[in-house]
Amino acid sequence: MAQNQEQNDLKVHVIDHPLIQHKLTLMRMKETSSKDFRQLLEEIAMLMGYEVTRDFPLMDVKIETPVAPCEAKMIAGKKVGLVPILRAGLGMLDGMLDLMPAARVGHIGLYRDPETLKPVEYYCKLPPDVSERTLIVVDPMLATGGSATAALTLLKEHGAKNLILMCLVSAPVGIRLVNKEHPDVPIFVAAIDDHLNEHGYIVPGLGDAGDRIFGTL
Ligand code: PRP
Ligand code: URA
Repeated sequence: MAQNQEQNDLKVHVIDHPLIQHKLTLMRMKETSSKDFRQLLEEIAMLMGYEVTRDFPLMDVKIETPVAPCEAKMIAGKKVGLVPILRAGLGMLDGMLDLMPAARVGHIGLYRDPETLKPVEYYCKLPPDVSERTLIVVDPMLATGGSATAALTLLKEHGAKNLILMCLVSAPVGIRLVNKEHPDVPIFVAAIDDHLNEHGYIVPGLGDAGDRIFGTL
């Protein structure tokens, strides 16, 4: 949203496809229902997932079509791992699974303490062999960056080496923190908003993503 001089230092991929921007605008509207919000988030996750996986390595395979043998391409390596940060990250999971139905899914439970804005971990269950998989961490909101940074640190402690962070709406301060703490992790977002308010909410943002997804406002 706000792209100005002070953001030139950010290392981030902004996926600003018109369909994504249109759907994100609908999500931002305060009158959008939970049902529509969920649906739009799932659709955007799928569209973003298409871009996030663009550079996935391919391998040659020998197959036979009904007509002739041929050499074709398939994604190389172990199945990708999708890691939603609970709760709101769950809203992006189904869209990604539509794209990659065989992906493994890990869950990291973190909530942001409303007073300190620091992440508090309450759950972690990961697929086996995380060190051999590309893991895509998904969370709609990258605000202070505390939750994403903590999730990436936790995954590295479990051996993860190849990580990608995919968020819907971000604030410059959050991107900067992840860039600083995890310079090896590419970040993909659909929007960089202006700033955080005194409660740590992204402005203009879309409100509390978890509450809007699950109707707990
Ligand atoms: C939201 C969001 C991120 C986090 C972002 O989760 O889904 O995980 O806040 O803020 P940060 O960048 O400042 O850490 P929240 O803590 O509200 O939990 P929820 O998903 O369970 O609603
Ligand atoms: N978490 C949210 O859900 N929304 C924000 O704006 C910031 C953190």
